[in-house]
Amino acid sequence: MYQAPRGTSDFLPEDQPYWEFMRAKAGEVASLYGYQRIDTPVFEDASLFVRSVGEGTDIVEKEMYAFKDKGGESLSLRPEATASICRAYLEHGMPNLPQPVKLYTMGPFFRYDRPQAGRYRQFHQFNCEALGEADPLLDAEVIEVAWRFYESLGLKDLSLQVNSIGCAVCRPRFRAALLQYYAGYLDSICKECRGRFDRNPLRLLDCKERECQRIGAGAPRTTDYLCADCAAHFSQLRASLEATGIPFGIDNRLVRGLDYYNRTVFEIQPRVEGAQASLGGGGRYDGLIEELGGKPTPGIGFAAGLERVVINLKRQGIAPDALPKPRAYLAYIGAPARDAAWRAVSELRKVGVAAVIGFGGRSLKSQLRHANTLGAAYVVIIGEREVERGEAVVRDMAGATQTTVPADELAQALAGQGVGGQG
Ligand code: HAM
Repeated sequence: MYQAPRGTSDFLPEDQPYWEFMRAKAGEVASLYGYQRIDTPVFEDASLFVRSVGEGTDIVEKEMYAFKDKGGESLSLRPEATASICRAYLEHGMPNLPQPVKLYTMGPFFRYDRPQAGRYRQFHQFNCEALGEADPLLDAEVIEVAWRFYESLGLKDLSLQVNSIGCAVCRPRFRAALLQYYAGYLDSICKECRGRFDRNPLRLLDCKERECQRIGAGAPRTTDYLCADCAAHFSQLRASLEATGIPFGIDNRLVRGLDYYNRTVFEIQPRVEGAQASLGGGGRYDGLIEELGGKPTPGIGFAAGLERVVINLKRQGIAPDALPKPRAYLAYIGAPARDAAWRAVSELRKVGVAAVIGFGGRSLKSQLRHANTLGAAYVVIIGEREVERGEAVVRDMAGATQTTVPADELAQALAGQGVGGQG
């Protein structure tokens, strides 16, 4: 028997209310803050991600689904959305629009990660990007969008952590201080971290190993090394964020797993969980568009991991509304009644009444059971007598009451406020 590939899942009908709920809330929050939807391909030129996410990152080094297609093009399934949205911004002349250009997307992303709870190889994100504006007010707005998304879903007990990792001017000083600090601990840090020491020292701060975390606690703090411009930016961001009333903390060890970030970075986590619990995160990436061939253009964005949102919705007992059920189930007894029921179900659908019909000429009992399982509000029963009289029996499943209506008034009766006064 085949199974879905490791690290992927089927979203079954019973899972769909969660996804519909997240889609609806993401769309509402995005339009409240003036974000427009964009959808980009699920695969891109592999080098787009290498250049943006960065060569020394886990994503590019270990997790890309990169392949050559039959024409010899080097492509990769997208591990994230930011690079693709920046590519589309440049490709479609969006630098000529009034800035910032605010875009959002939702969809599947792919990372060859070690699957575990909350970590998958195909996962989904709600992702927002605001391009072409360096104002720290925009940083606060993007963080607010992220927060309002989780809030609109009813999630509680979340922690928002913010940091500034500086820019090309001040980060080298921080990097040097970090290297100097860690040089004294090379024998104590984990194997991965020894690699990070050479390739990507900022990531040393992000290690989840207990001993590395202990060492990290004494490491230099990013914010002690900010240049005057970065310090002013960070201070304005904090003031603007405070004005929104959103609770946040400053975590001077927060760095992110992608190389394009500068200045503001942030993450949102549930308070209860440990290690790989980040519900979402983002930050500023003022050098990325230029790196991709555009003019120097600032940008900032975030992504929420939707599988992790579902885990937290379930954990917090938040059950989205069930999806709509059929209003009517057409049950019949005998061939002439089947033909009448078939015409009736077609009429109902034409006027927008969600209706299903029993197949296979099964017993009335079996059809009623089926209607019950589907959660139909009404069962329309047509037998020999109803065919003769041009009528249909309408059973209200909730009230267990029955009325008889003329066949040609069925659509009207079911489309309206209900049958026989029963809603
Ligand atoms: P990221 O931190 O790599 O950022 O991913 C954002 C969120 O996606 C994570 O916080 C997590 O909830 C979810 N996520 C990531 N990997 C997995 C996985 N393997 N399985 C399940 N969920 C996962 C980015 O992707 C950036 N592009 C965000 C951004 C947008 N920064 C600026 N703009």
